[in-house]
Amino acid sequence: MTDIPQALTVLQAEALTALEATADEAALEQVRVRYLGRKGSLAAILRGLADLPPAERPAVGKLANEVKERLEAALAARREALQAAARAAALAAERVDVTLPGRPVPMGRLHPSTQVLRRICQIWGDMGFQIYRSRDIETEEMNFELLNIPAHHPARDMWDTFYTMVDGILLRTHTSPGQIRAMREFCPQPIRVILPGMCYRYEQITARSEIQFHQVEGLAVGRHVSMTDLKGTLISFAHRMFGAVRRVRFRASHFPFTEPSAEMDVECMLCEGAGCVVCKQTGWLEILGCGMVHPEVLRNGGYDPAVYSGFAFGMGPERITMLKHRIEDIRYFWTNDLRFLEQF
Ligand code: DAH
Repeated sequence: MTDIPQALTVLQAEALTALEATADEAALEQVRVRYLGRKGSLAAILRGLADLPPAERPAVGKLANEVKERLEAALAARREALQAAARAAALAAERVDVTLPGRPVPMGRLHPSTQVLRRICQIWGDMGFQIYRSRDIETEEMNFELLNIPAHHPARDMWDTFYTMVDGILLRTHTSPGQIRAMREFCPQPIRVILPGMCYRYEQITARSEIQFHQVEGLAVGRHVSMTDLKGTLISFAHRMFGAVRRVRFRASHFPFTEPSAEMDVECMLCEGAGCVVCKQTGWLEILGCGMVHPEVLRNGGYDPAVYSGFAFGMGPERITMLKHRIEDIRYFWTNDLRFLEQF
């Protein structure tokens, strides 16, 4: 009688205990190699089969096979169990608590000036006005002379100017020089453009005046453009911008580049025309300057004033924003205080 069957029984018991004790797949693999691998314990025992008397071999061989199959089945079952446990642990570790409150996402907004600027552009766009971009750095000639504002003329006092180190080059004090550029580009075609952009003035910064601010200039030139076109168009604009119930009025004024010149007032939106501090008890707010393009300016743009006429206007989006939202200090616009900006 050989001791192979007994060795097999001992091996089986040992291997099963070792399998049960494994904690992960790596340990499981070690156990497999140790007992079932090519150089493992089972293989070592089976090599002894050859020394057995031939009569005993079939029975012992069968037993060896059964042990091998049992161990392989136990190994597979253990592998399955370990994988299931690993999956469960991963799921538990990665679980998302859907009841946690979300993290707030900070929302950006458009600057109030940008909002009003875009609204203005949209209304004029609807009326068939193209946007025309003109430069911030201008020549003195464009900014003044060609707009009928000669050097040394007292009218220059209306625009305190930032001059550059280069003679004759300045930061535009208004968007009006863009009128000349647009006319020279489109002449002799009819024109309907608005010119939004930044303007610069060498002024004391106060609650009411900044050294830089936006303007939206408008220009219409054609063969039969009249003052009634100017009034009708601006009234349409005001009704869309401030509401159709708001009354508007034109007051005679003076600008060197228009003749006649006017200013347009809108009924005060804060007191509904009754009179308050913002409208200085008048019930009216001035929102733009306008007029019929001066013949000299038309000529400077290349148009014959005997044949062509035009109207022009200029407004300040910051001023309009201040009126709309009752903002009392223009300095809020460029100080980047989020508490201010987040209100719009
Ligand atoms: N350029 C003027 C200013 O800055 C505003 C202005 C008034 C523009 C009348 C115009 C206009 O085109 O017709 O004060």
